[in-house]
Amino acid sequence: MAHDIVILGVFVADTAYRAARQPKIGETILGKSFSLGPGGKGSNQAVAAARAGGDVAFLTKLGDDAFADMAMSTWEKAGVNPVVTRDATSYTGAAYIFLEEGTGNNAIIVAPGAAATISPGDMDAQADLIGKAKIFVTQLEQPLDAAIRALEIAKAGGATTILNPAPAQPLDASVFALCDYVTPNESEAEILTGLPVTTVDEARAAADKLLSMGVKTAIITLGSQGALYHTQGESVLVPAFKAGEVVDTTGAGDAFNGGFAAALSRGEAPVDAVRFGSAVAGISVTRPGTAPAMPSREEAEALLRSV
Ligand code: RIB
Repeated sequence: MAHDIVILGVFVADTAYRAARQPKIGETILGKSFSLGPGGKGSNQAVAAARAGGDVAFLTKLGDDAFADMAMSTWEKAGVNPVVTRDATSYTGAAYIFLEEGTGNNAIIVAPGAAATISPGDMDAQADLIGKAKIFVTQLEQPLDAAIRALEIAKAGGATTILNPAPAQPLDASVFALCDYVTPNESEAEILTGLPVTTVDEARAAADKLLSMGVKTAIITLGSQGALYHTQGESVLVPAFKAGEVVDTTGAGDAFNGGFAAALSRGEAPVDAVRFGSAVAGISVTRPGTAPAMPSREEAEALLRSV
């Protein structure tokens, strides 16, 4: 069956520890709180896109364990259509998330488990689904060769392709050539370009460099500074939305990418889709967790109307 939005990525269980600071090697410190919930960049983006009104299929691999059950019930609740292979010889991934008390900023270790074995052959096996997508989205938590194969199939089928290069790694021009949109955050843009990205002007210079590396349109998400949409002949800074007190910024990039994909799939113009994605992200940071923080389409549209 065809779906408008096909997302390839990883589900992991997020284990989030809130503390004043991270422990040093050899040190134990007391945390303020712990929570367990659904995460993984691809899965978060699928949940965000479905909650934002998109028709979404999510392609991944799970183990056969309690975290896999968490994945299935998360997608059922959000209206995501899972296209899942189970590998009972491995495990469903997990992430360690350190949440800095006071700022809500985070540091993350992801162990993708069974999803670390997603292969180009797995993508060939789903060529029908991927090739019929209107919008195809992926990130870099599963192996790069699988992401490349899926991008090739999606492009050949005429999809609009979005690469969220997270976690960042240096990428070849041949990969960028497969992507209509590349959506790094500040630190990912730094790794891709070798340039500092702390201000909007620096983001513009990095986005120019990305264009010179073969990227068609770069969208650099800049946290509270907004999102920079940058393509040949057009550069627009979309301001961040303030939807309340920021409690947890984990998954804000996923909220943005999912919201952006949902808006594009409805035929919105790219800059309007960036605004919609920014509204989704602006609401998500006011709530704890990643997938559970994703707002509905109505909530995002109400925020857009309110400014
Ligand atoms: O982008 C946030 C996500 O990154 C978290 O849910 C965590 O699982 C990591 O994959």
